[in-house]
Amino acid sequence: MPEPTKFELPESEIPEVWVNVLPDLPGTPSPPLHPATQEPVGPEDLAPIFPMGLIAQEVSTEPEIPIPDEVRDAYRLWRPTPLYRAHRLERALDTPAHIYYKYEGVSPAGSHKPNTAVAQAFYNKQEGVRKLATETGAGQWGSALALGCGFFDLECEVFMVGISYDQKPYRRVMMETWGATVHRSPSDLTEAGRSQAEHQSGSLGIAISEAVQVAAASEDTNYSLGSVLNHVCLHQTVIGQECLRQLELAGEYPDVVVGCVGGGSNFAGLSYPFVRRNLREGLTTRLVASEPAACPTLTRGAYRYDFGDTVGMTPLLPMYTLGHDFVPPPVHAGGLRYHGDAPSLSGLVREGVIEAKAIQQTAAFDAAVRFARVEGIIPGPEPAHALRAAFDEAEDAKQAGHERVILIGLSGHGHFDMSAYQAFLAGELSDLEFSEQDMATALERLPQAPALT
Ligand SMILES: Cc1ncc(COP(=O)(O)O)c(C=O)c1O
Repeated sequence: MPEPTKFELPESEIPEVWVNVLPDLPGTPSPPLHPATQEPVGPEDLAPIFPMGLIAQEVSTEPEIPIPDEVRDAYRLWRPTPLYRAHRLERALDTPAHIYYKYEGVSPAGSHKPNTAVAQAFYNKQEGVRKLATETGAGQWGSALALGCGFFDLECEVFMVGISYDQKPYRRVMMETWGATVHRSPSDLTEAGRSQAEHQSGSLGIAISEAVQVAAASEDTNYSLGSVLNHVCLHQTVIGQECLRQLELAGEYPDVVVGCVGGGSNFAGLSYPFVRRNLREGLTTRLVASEPAACPTLTRGAYRYDFGDTVGMTPLLPMYTLGHDFVPPPVHAGGLRYHGDAPSLSGLVREGVIEAKAIQQTAAFDAAVRFARVEGIIPGPEPAHALRAAFDEAEDAKQAGHERVILIGLSGHGHFDMSAYQAFLAGELSDLEFSEQDMATALERLPQAPALT
């Protein structure tokens, strides 16, 4: 019998809890601050735009939080997702490494994002909310929330980053098919959008400002974020928990876990169950967060308090940031164009628990094409960054002559990213650098706030 390629779990093994890494974080986490008072934000500050169920999760110190039956029921449509052993890739790379990838592209929206979208829609519905407003970069998050809102009978309004709106018209149609309304951001529908009209390519930071403004202005509308916040990272931990079980079936445990980072949610979801084991049991799995060199928050950003959006409407978050008004260059991995990172992830990078690595987009696409030609799946440009970092790990293993078990987070497919693949295959994709001058400008414009230790 050849060794198996797919490790699949039955629906009965969909996790029953989400793993909360907050109680295990080293040191005392710095709280989000109210920008006017510089005091920690309380539930009452967040209540105008989030339901209490999610606010409670945002600050919970419970190590595990039960997943409501209604959410597990929706998860049944695509979870558990498959874990693959990449035999064909291992042969192509001629590496002694054992390479596994966890594929979230089997969800209806094509990525990991529905894991939190359905949960967020559920808690909002439970508290009588009528509509959710949100932003989307690559279109993955907007699609996921459109889907989640459809399941729980909520309206959905999406502000889509301008460049993605232009590059990916069918992502918009997908959101509309699930019942959402989609606007190109910056739009002239909000004050925040009008103030950023000169940045026509848009950014996640600008689109977030627009959606927050819509939610704050209306009693029955809430805001929903697809990454960064604790409750979003929490919901994604179904990914890592399933991996632990699937790797057990394969009789292996990873030496290294690699994922891509935009705001940090898929990487958190994949890695936090392993982080917890490292911290509690003294295991030494390496955790590698891979980000674009053109938007290098974890590798070159400042560890400071900053706004989550461009206009400065959100609480100040403790995180690695390139500055809230940094508009990242229009690289094709739209989902990775965010100026900051999840505070929990930033803290773990700061403590040295998680490593970070910056990848150029042509190197990422080169890895994605090589992967597609042997494994079949065409990866999204975001997880292409994780693939590149994993290829480097496989090459290191070869040089060292060691077996190394590598687990990759393949967070979504690239079926709506054909224009990016087309540009790469035609040799028209270039690498964009984040300059020292960009960094100096970013640092000058960070808000006044207490220093982080
Ligand atoms: C497929 C995919 N992977 C990764 C990301 C990055 O987001 P995060 O860091 O929150 O996982 C996105 C964002 O849209 C995405 O669509």
